[in-house]
Amino acid sequence: MDKEKKYAELLPQLAAVVEGEQDMIANMANVSAILQEEFHFWWTGFYRVLDGMLVLGPFQGPMACTRIAKGKGVCGTSWMRDETIVVPDVHLFPGHIACSSVSQSEIVVPIHDSLGNVVGVLDIDSEHLATFDEVDKKWLEQVADLLKGD
Ligand code: SME
Repeated sequence: MDKEKKYAELLPQLAAVVEGEQDMIANMANVSAILQEEFHFWWTGFYRVLDGMLVLGPFQGPMACTRIAKGKGVCGTSWMRDETIVVPDVHLFPGHIACSSVSQSEIVVPIHDSLGNVVGVLDIDSEHLATFDEVDKKWLEQVADLLKGD
């Protein structure tokens, strides 16, 4: 099955899982588990904005850096610019934070509250180059929308 189809099937399932649960951590935990079970990425998880930093949230995969400053790495840059960043080769991204030397490519998608403030990011890392493209961006932005906090 191509990934477009996988995402199309997964999105309603994700929506059903987060519907009716207000707690952001619980929802992030289930969303990372479901994405990981479907796609088997190297690392799938969340960072939340807490006290002016990105702090590690629920994830699936190996241990990761716990805190990332605004503007630092791919995650901090996505937060600062308030936009999705697709990185085909992490070694070519200035300031990339290598939590793992295995990671080769990455996508980071901001998550917003109902006022439009960035409250966290969805970060997915791959052990292969150029794993993510416009298809992942389109669907993962919809996944991030499901997690809108209050
Ligand atoms: N590579 C990320 C850091 C987070 S971990 O890879 C899970 C970055 O540069 O933002």
